[in-house]
Amino acid sequence: MNIFVIGFMGSGKSSLGKRLASHMDRPFIDSDKAIVNELGMSIQEIFEQKGEDYFRTYETDWLKRVQDNDSVIALGGGTPCSAENIEIIKSKGLVVYLIVSTPALATRLAASKSIRPLIEDFRDNPEKLKEFINQKVAEREVYYNQANIKFDGESVDSEKLKRLAELISMSAQH
Ligand code: S3P
Repeated sequence: MNIFVIGFMGSGKSSLGKRLASHMDRPFIDSDKAIVNELGMSIQEIFEQKGEDYFRTYETDWLKRVQDNDSVIALGGGTPCSAENIEIIKSKGLVVYLIVSTPALATRLAASKSIRPLIEDFRDNPEKLKEFINQKVAEREVYYNQANIKFDGESVDSEKLKRLAELISMSAQH
């Protein structure tokens, strides 16, 4: 069974996903990277040249093509955020929502080297960034909260990672 890691931008889906995959000896897939490779364009170029709607449609199409091959799959922050997409995700694996507080998300996003089109205009304005995160998380929680496992994504040490892997193995048996 696949394990999908979902959560807001900056919640650490890719880095935790990679660690989890190596701990559980599974392949790791990053949906943003897969889409960037398929289209031969960066996320920024996709948003600028094709538009956000095109990116969202592509995300749905990509999800439909995901195979059940026991991978750990880190999804883009907005990927689970439609009724159609969250249903596809739930039907193809176990879903883990990484929860991180707004101040921690804001600090990580402000320091991150990745270009994220949705926050580029105000990422150096801490107040505006926090306001945006609060508003977007509130909008998206209806989808994020459908995860099978909700996990505190702030400072995940190796013990915490081990506990998450155990939780996943237990949930997968039910
Ligand atoms: C987005 C999150 C990004 C990327 C795109 C849009 C979002 O992925 O898919 O910039 O809508 O939250 P990360 O969550 O990996 O930053």
